[in-house]
Amino acid sequence: MVKEKKIDLKKTKDLFINLKWLLITMKGFSGFIVAIIFLGAISALLGIYRALVTKWLVDSATAADISRMNNYLILLGSILLFDIVVRAIHTILLEKGEIKISNSIQNNLYAIIIKTKWMQFLKYHSGDYLTRMTSDVGEITDVIISTIPSIITLSILVFGSFISIFYIDPKLAIVIITVIPLAALFIRFFSKRLKKLYIESQRVESKYRSFINESIQNMLVVKTFCLEKVNFSKAKTMQQEKVRLVAARTKLTVVSTSLVTISSWMGFFLVFLWGSVKIAEGTTTFGTLMALIQLIGNIQGPLITVASSIPMIVYALASVERLREIEGLEREFEAEFSLDMTSAGIKYNQVDFYYNKDNHVLKNIEVDIKPGETVALIGSSGEGKTTFIHLLMSLLNPVNGDIVILDGEKEYVVSKNSRGFISYVPQGNNIFSGSIADNLRLGKEDATEEELMMATKAASAWDFIQESENGMNTHIGERGVGLSEGQTQRIAIARALLHKAPILILDEATSALDSKTEVDVLRTIQSLEQSPTCIIITHRLSALKICDRILKIDKGYLYEISYSDAINFENG
Ligand SMILES: Nc1ncnc2c1ncn2[C@@H]1O[C@H](COP(=O)(O)OP(=O)(O)OP(=O)(O)O)[C@@H](O)[C@H]1O
Ligand SMILES: [Mg+2]
Repeated sequence: MVKEKKIDLKKTKDLFINLKWLLITMKGFSGFIVAIIFLGAISALLGIYRALVTKWLVDSATAADISRMNNYLILLGSILLFDIVVRAIHTILLEKGEIKISNSIQNNLYAIIIKTKWMQFLKYHSGDYLTRMTSDVGEITDVIISTIPSIITLSILVFGSFISIFYIDPKLAIVIITVIPLAALFIRFFSKRLKKLYIESQRVESKYRSFINESIQNMLVVKTFCLEKVNFSKAKTMQQEKVRLVAARTKLTVVSTSLVTISSWMGFFLVFLWGSVKIAEGTTTFGTLMALIQLIGNIQGPLITVASSIPMIVYALASVERLREIEGLEREFEAEFSLDMTSAGIKYNQVDFYYNKDNHVLKNIEVDIKPGETVALIGSSGEGKTTFIHLLMSLLNPVNGDIVILDGEKEYVVSKNSRGFISYVPQGNNIFSGSIADNLRLGKEDATEEELMMATKAASAWDFIQESENGMNTHIGERGVGLSEGQTQRIAIARALLHKAPILILDEATSALDSKTEVDVLRTIQSLEQSPTCIIITHRLSALKICDRILKIDKGYLYEISYSDAINFENG
């Protein structure tokens, strides 16, 4: 019993936090939203006024008062024209506001995602991030720019129409108002179940997008293993799940909207009943009945719209919750200082690290790498070489001990800020689509042609770039399509060299090169004017031979070994 109450309290608190999030986001666009509400309200008031003018028009026609009838006809025409203008401006503002709001939410979210700690970032699939940045943001934007303002203007319309009915017949107005709480009750009853279904369907949507995303990215694997049929049927199964959830949601929405519709139709029924009786009695005019029919339409229509927009708000609040999950990811600490050094040493002091306690990856690591040294890092696959580097990059944080970068006597504990002093060529393909020059300039945004040439020459990439028809402007497809594996690796190395950092790390970055080219690249790097401190992960003996020292990770411990020990290790 107590437990249930606690959960409820948490849910209520969450609801308020989600609402607050929505309101704060709206505040940034209050100008747009107010203008949209204002125009909507004018349109609503014109609707009421139109109903009254119709009454006067019909009444003057029945009384054969031609001159008044003509005046009302002109007035009615003007109202209709004015309404068209108001609606047009309303649409323009709506479109503009929509793109501005969704851009702003997406920008905030993207800024958060790129600042998230590496391990936290890895919690979600790229397809999931995409769904949240597109579908969830879209859902929220719609509610901010159109649902909430329209609920406000519709409320004005309902209130105005109600006052007008009250002015015509107070008793009738009071009977009609009883349908409103009835509608509210229905809405409340359904919103909880709707939210659950919506969250579930967004989860399935993320799963589907992730699957499609990956199967398109890994089309080569799909083709080589003849997975076309299997993948197609997997995608279809996921789609069926989406259909099932959408159908369940729609069913619920239709039932709740229908109940609200029934309650509002009761209003219409009451007006007709009232009108027929009064006309039969001769106590009211046709004009009044016509006005009442329009006014009750002004209440009934909006009520149905509001009822069908409640699920939208429920969905948007659930989407807010999904965005808040991303916002809640731990961010990297960004120190105020910036470092400036041209040579750097690296020191690991009793560093321990594990991803999870049952797999202690690195144990009591002690190492001191001098500025300008070239150190090879070897070890069997899965021993922790990349993890060792990610700790130095401060993408991961040691469980115990610390890692410092040394600038003469000064020591800086590694952080996001010290990352700028490391040029890192990660393991695997990390080329962007665009031209070769675009990719290189990721290392140095304002690199001159001369610098591009120097870096590509050092990485043994200059010759093949020159030989290609468009040189530096050669277009590279997604993940290096159009280049060989070794060529993409050389571009990645040139990009890192352009960054001109005092520390250079190559994580299997030369694995696709022939051993002569690999040695050439490493020798050129060593002979650079300000030769960086290098950590090279490689398995080639020819490359190990030209390194100053060789470090080996074995069962979590780091040892310094001789070249002859390395020969024994690499030869198995
Ligand atoms: N994000 C992660 N979460 C949990 N465990 C991980 C994660 N990344 C790596 N590991 C585990 O940590 C260990 C070390 O991985 P790491 O990538 O550092 O190995 P490696 O020496 O670079 O291997 P390889 O030579 O194959 O690249 C492995 O057992 C791996 O399964
Ligand atoms: Mg690795």
